[in-house]
Amino acid sequence: MSLFIKKPLEQLMAQAGDSEKGLKRTLGPWNLIALGIGAIIGAGLFVRTATAAGDAAGPAVVISYIVAGIGCAFAGLCYAEFASMIPIAGSAYAYAYVTMGEFMAWIIGWALVLEYALAGATVAISWSQYLNSLLGGAIPYEFCHGPFETSVNGVTGIINIPAVIILIIVTLILIKGMEESAMVNAIIVFVKVAIVLIFIALGWGFINDANYTPFVIPETMAGHEGWNRHGWGGILGGAGIVFFAFIGFDAVSTAAQEAKNPKRDMPIGILGSLVICTILFVLFSHVLTGIANWTEFKGEGREASVVYAINKYMIGYEWLGTLITVAILAGFTSVILVMLMGQSRVFFSMSKDGLISKVFSELHPKFRTPYKSNLILLLCVLPFGAFLPESLVGNLTSFGTLFAFVLVCIGIWVMRVKNPAAPRPFKTPLVPLVPILGAGICLALIIGLDYKTQLMAIGWLLFGLIIYFGYSKKNSVLRKGN
Ligand code: ALA
Repeated sequence: MSLFIKKPLEQLMAQAGDSEKGLKRTLGPWNLIALGIGAIIGAGLFVRTATAAGDAAGPAVVISYIVAGIGCAFAGLCYAEFASMIPIAGSAYAYAYVTMGEFMAWIIGWALVLEYALAGATVAISWSQYLNSLLGGAIPYEFCHGPFETSVNGVTGIINIPAVIILIIVTLILIKGMEESAMVNAIIVFVKVAIVLIFIALGWGFINDANYTPFVIPETMAGHEGWNRHGWGGILGGAGIVFFAFIGFDAVSTAAQEAKNPKRDMPIGILGSLVICTILFVLFSHVLTGIANWTEFKGEGREASVVYAINKYMIGYEWLGTLITVAILAGFTSVILVMLMGQSRVFFSMSKDGLISKVFSELHPKFRTPYKSNLILLLCVLPFGAFLPESLVGNLTSFGTLFAFVLVCIGIWVMRVKNPAAPRPFKTPLVPLVPILGAGICLALIIGLDYKTQLMAIGWLLFGLIIYFGYSKKNSVLRKGN
């Protein structure tokens, strides 16, 4: 039987409609937008804006955000069509099963593990750093860093205990159920957006126009020899760095089976959260690089850049620095929440299809959440959070996400050609132009990632093939039914 056996759309829809036996439908359009913003605003905005300005784009990091936002918008339009058409948990994985067949679906599902599970770990590591900064460095270095990190004083990390704790707390919230998770998430999102708006509004008055000149990093500047480290190349390089900030809008689509009216609300959730965040990102980066000079983000202002800029230039507003740190901690928590939820929902779908063990789709008798999946996921993610550095897992996250985006864009085109009559409550405009541009930009960003990341991600995909041919192919529900 062909590797590219496809799940019929009707079968998938019947599965999605079978909500009595499935996940509870509790999420409305605002919950979905909040879910998106909850996943999006996090380490990317608060950590990588300064990195991108200092390393590649200068004050033109604003344009980097616009470029990355355009790439995500194309992919988001494709996601929205799929999510309204195939409102089933599992997101890109489920879409690939219908359009490109089981083998591609497996690959995409496997790549999504890189995105969701590792994003959870990445942000948990950043959470630990900010907690320690809030506590004035009270946690000994060894207990908030993994063994691959060494401090400037030569102390080597042992285990990142705060990262472990936050991952356990978030998993327990998820097991308790979506209704509660959605409420916790909504509160955090409110705090997060409020703090970003306060920073923009108050910081605007402290902008020093001189910081915007030169607007892009000049080619002649020492230390910026690479094509993607200055000028327009630097703006593209910056787009690659801040791409991480956009990751998460697609996570909305993993909750399709918990949406009350997925056909209408999925596009609203995906595109609404993306638009709101892009506007906030552009304004935020404009203010940040206006308050402090981008060259400071290469050195002393690199760590906790937002707090640095406030404490140094916004005299009288030091309280804002502490408030922002608290909001960042809450914000990171919601990112971890949505990412781990997204992962368990992808596992849920793969398990229903027989591609991974049934354990991943067993629901809790009372909470009706895939609690065993949440617990197994916790065990898998903990070592990453506890022992590895942020940079290592962060870039793998970007790879997995971009890979999924490329395949979703291609999938929309394939579906329009192969199944033109299928009902599409939301239609991606200008097909195939939008999918081609979306796939093209995401592919360019993948090629721009560093060599080590590419190698490790390919290793992960090869490992996935062993599992597919060793287990999944034999246990596929679709194959058994044929
Ligand atoms: N976009 C998410 C963040 O910035 C992953 O943390």
